[in-house]
Amino acid sequence: MNTIAVLPLVLLAAVFSGTTGIELPSSFRICKRTLPEQEYYKCVSESARDAVVSLAGGLKSFKILPIEPLAVDSVKIGESQGSVTLRQEYRNIKLHGLTKQLEVKNYRIDWDKCLLTSESYNPQVDFVADYRIDGKILLLPVKGSGKSNITMYDLKTQNEIHCEKYQKNGETYIRVTKYDVKFSPGRVTLRFDNLFDGDTILGEQMNRFINENSDLLFKELQAPYEETFGLVFAKVANDIFIRVPFNKIFPLT
Ligand SMILES: *[C@@H]1O[C@H](CO)[C@@H](O)[C@H](O)[C@H]1NC(C)=O
Repeated sequence: MNTIAVLPLVLLAAVFSGTTGIELPSSFRICKRTLPEQEYYKCVSESARDAVVSLAGGLKSFKILPIEPLAVDSVKIGESQGSVTLRQEYRNIKLHGLTKQLEVKNYRIDWDKCLLTSESYNPQVDFVADYRIDGKILLLPVKGSGKSNITMYDLKTQNEIHCEKYQKNGETYIRVTKYDVKFSPGRVTLRFDNLFDGDTILGEQMNRFINENSDLLFKELQAPYEETFGLVFAKVANDIFIRVPFNKIFPLT
């Protein structure tokens, strides 16, 4: 994802460019590590949130595309065992809402391990895509392709950003090696248009059935979702980190 609301790091980074001569908006806040710990983390949480929100329209000088909505190529989910045996494919994915009413809290940074953790919250995030599904949900055959919209309400996201330091031109930089995202939505609704070749009666019944079992279906979606968005968030973060030295992003004083 927060993500979705999910890019706290990113923002952070964005906050402090310099060497490259790129000027960031003066509204971006830099947090000094000399602050008392509580204050520092509060500052980082807020500056991360502001930075993510400011990336809504993208950041040209960092080659970052708009994240409102956030575009993702495709997600493929193979047939799994259990009550949902469904091949699912999503293309032209747009994630709407990551920057809307975003909250970021509990930022923590372990400098030795190069590990940044935080929690974020969004009231509503829509995963809108072209879908193709084929298989069974609780013994019921389901098949179709068209437009889909999966909505997560009260979305809590845990972000775990693993990084490593390296040297370039005599300066220390960091790169994200792994961006772990964990989504915990309060509620999920799903909408698949054009199921069963557009048979509206069957299609409506199946949509109702799917929503009555949305927890089950979302469990199938969750891991590939998180993996995909983790990769996207890592890329956005790295677009900043490759351009800005570490001590410009996290200045000691
Ligand atoms: C997706 O569904 C949500 C919830 O119904 C709605 O608010 C949103 O506008 C929909 N988005 C699209 C593109 O249909």
